[in-house]
Amino acid sequence: MISPATNPEMVHVVSKADNRQHAVVKLPCLDHSLPSSSLRARPVLLGLTSNNLSYARGGDLLHWWKTYPVPPTAPAPYNDQSSWGIVPAWGYAIVTESNVPGIISGSLIWGYWPTSTSPTLLCLERSNPEGHWVEVSNHRQQLMPIYNRYERVFPDEEKDLDGRAWSTVFRGVWVAGYLLSEYVFSPDPRAREPVHPLGAVSKLPWSADDADLLNAVVMVLGASTKVARSFSWCLFDRPRESGPLGLVQVTSSPGVLQEVVDKKGWEGLSKTVAYTEIDQATEWIEGLQPAKLVIVDCGARDNVLSQICQRLQESALLSCKTVIMQVGSQQKVYTADEVQAARAAMASLGKIQYNTSGIQDTVIDREGAATYFGEVSRRWKEWLAHRASAIPDMRLVYGQGIAGDNGIYGGWESLSNGAVRPEQGLVYVL
Ligand SMILES: NC(=O)c1ccc[n+]([C@@H]2O[C@H](COP(=O)([O-])OP(=O)(O)OC[C@H]3O[C@@H](n4cnc5c(N)ncnc54)[C@H](OP(=O)(O)O)[C@@H]3O)[C@@H](O)[C@H]2O)c1
Repeated sequence: MISPATNPEMVHVVSKADNRQHAVVKLPCLDHSLPSSSLRARPVLLGLTSNNLSYARGGDLLHWWKTYPVPPTAPAPYNDQSSWGIVPAWGYAIVTESNVPGIISGSLIWGYWPTSTSPTLLCLERSNPEGHWVEVSNHRQQLMPIYNRYERVFPDEEKDLDGRAWSTVFRGVWVAGYLLSEYVFSPDPRAREPVHPLGAVSKLPWSADDADLLNAVVMVLGASTKVARSFSWCLFDRPRESGPLGLVQVTSSPGVLQEVVDKKGWEGLSKTVAYTEIDQATEWIEGLQPAKLVIVDCGARDNVLSQICQRLQESALLSCKTVIMQVGSQQKVYTADEVQAARAAMASLGKIQYNTSGIQDTVIDREGAATYFGEVSRRWKEWLAHRASAIPDMRLVYGQGIAGDNGIYGGWESLSNGAVRPEQGLVYVL
């Protein structure tokens, strides 16, 4: 039975061919019956970061467009699912109807949501640990598992409004930095088997030597991205004897990142430079005489990586083993040519792709979901409690709704133009 309601819902749609083209469309409210083992939840708080640009850029290849296809009830031409898509975002939604055992209407759920005010249908199965559910709809089966996991929010988190807003901005990417430090470059790789940056599913080898940072310098590019900030913070918290020998952060915001380093007691062990000061970084690394240089590219600005590789060729580090980890991309919409060029650079520079979901899946298999999520949740809450020291410059920039400059529409416009500053965390109340 379908009966139109009065207030239309809003959804943000993005052109699959040119992610710069986007629009807000109204959807009629339709009163469908609820299938079994399903619920509807309305997104209420979402964050946007450069990561959302990646969901659009890689939407076909990695199936992110399949998460929430544009409903056929959207007006033309946006109802053409081959041309238009909905970019998902991390955050919270409130359950409006449910026949999923264990989840009642009014519950708050953490997960991966459409950028839409429309109550969203999820088909959920109970998972481990308690309070976790997995989305099992056919159209989402090719999606990586991390995006199909939903968590009930417990009352203490529900009350912590500021913590929840920070979670929308950070939590989805924070885990990437955590897994990189704790499992790919595990502090004790001979005691805990390290995980390949693509996870065990890649069937590629990743030895204890690959993981060892004891005599390595780590250089983080795009060091003020959220994923980089989480990685560096996890490195600071490792036992000193596990390395790295030194940390170089390359960023547009060296001052504030160096302050964090100093407060963590890493002065002398770390150097933070602007993109124009790469020479200083190379000289400093030479002085440490590392056996290995690990470059973690979290989204360096134009050509910086090739400049660094060029400098290394001309320096005393020429014979030093260099590993380049591809975590993220620059905050902008890439043209088709730029995507091609980035793929070519992956091959020519021998970059190793990093994938959070692959690693998380491996760790869940090895340790069990309860152990893994218990530990990751403890570390995440610890970081959240220390956010004033970890990200002293950052502030939340609140927006409202989907449409307009102050809504998701405006946030997408800013991200597409590389206009979101390092200290800004975009949060949307829907
Ligand atoms: N592989 C994975 O599993 C995985 C997991 C999580 C995230 N990621 C990727 O990592 C990347 C970073 O994600 P994030 O959400 O952490 O990013 P973010 O915090 O939104 O990135 C903001 C930062 O981007 C840098 N930036 C580079 N070019 C810029 C430009 N033209 N304009 C403005 N800022 C620019 C700035 O850092 P600097 O000033 O320091 O340059 C800025 O602080 C994304 O590509 C994301 O998809 C990958």
